[in-house]
Amino acid sequence: MKESIPELTLNDGLTLPAIGFGTYKLNGNEGATAINSAIDVGYRLIDTAYNYENEGTVGEAIRRSTVPRNELRITSKLPGRYQEYKKAVTAIQESLYRANLDYYDLYLIHWPNPKQGLYPEAWQALIDAKKWGLIRSIGVCNFLPEHLEQLEKETGVKPSINQIELHPFFNQEDQRRFHQQNNIKTQSWSPLARVTDILENETISHIASQHNKSVSQVILRWHYQLGSIPIPKSSSPERQHENLSIFDFSLNETEMAMMAELTNPNGRLKNQDPATYEEF
Ligand SMILES: NC(=O)c1ccc[n+]([C@@H]2O[C@H](COP(=O)([O-])OP(=O)(O)OC[C@H]3O[C@@H](n4cnc5c(N)ncnc54)[C@H](OP(=O)(O)O)[C@@H]3O)[C@@H](O)[C@H]2O)c1
Repeated sequence: MKESIPELTLNDGLTLPAIGFGTYKLNGNEGATAINSAIDVGYRLIDTAYNYENEGTVGEAIRRSTVPRNELRITSKLPGRYQEYKKAVTAIQESLYRANLDYYDLYLIHWPNPKQGLYPEAWQALIDAKKWGLIRSIGVCNFLPEHLEQLEKETGVKPSINQIELHPFFNQEDQRRFHQQNNIKTQSWSPLARVTDILENETISHIASQHNKSVSQVILRWHYQLGSIPIPKSSSPERQHENLSIFDFSLNETEMAMMAELTNPNGRLKNQDPATYEEF
């Protein structure tokens, strides 16, 4: 049975489903089969990136699917090495050619790389690409409040979303509050903390047993109730379906408070603090 997924509206009017599908490590024919299965199961928001080297795989999965293009929301991301304006414009075009798409629904700056000082230039390229019809909505990943403020100061244009590391071990409370105050939607990457240790977590297992749900479902429901869009990756059709089945139960205030206790200021999976971490 297909799950019914709520829709959210971004600050520029684009609608997105409340949960999406991550594709990191899904490449080639196996990847296309997994992504095609995700679309079949009901995902409509698909997250790729230039640096995952699978924009072509996503394009192939879309071609294999019977779902009309305008019902899908496809996201890609600009790598750090192409943040200069002209390089950014070319990279966006290259991203489209790789996927054989006419437009991306969302295009994001992958990392701010603040030491380079080029992200405002990259942002101007995204603004222009949107004007040219290559992208419907523009956003960022891993931007701290100061980076978001800089974009608005230099261009007057706010991102529609900021995709950040967010899971029960790193709940990003302050960053989420900043997004909410500035009408920027939060998306959660590694929403299941890449399942390292988390499936055995006693608190989440206890909550899951109360609802007759799995640990993954409780975590993904928690993201939804925080107001963030999780984009779990799974290569298995069963787990893809499991991860979508989160709209038929809810966590109460006590359970949300128990989940909040699990966070840790050093809870980033790989210590990728955007203030210093750079990715090209
Ligand atoms: N913007 C950024 O900087 C950034 C950084 C990292 C990731 N991302 C995006 O975020 C997406 C998701 O993050 P992620 O892939 O790092 O991690 P994740 O979605 O938290 O976890 C993926 C792992 O969880 C397993 N899994 C999924 N559902 C499961 C379930 N129901 N039960 C048990 N295991 C399950 C998957 O295994 P199976 O495949 O075997 O099911 C996979 O090993 C990525 O794919 C990518 O699109 C963005």
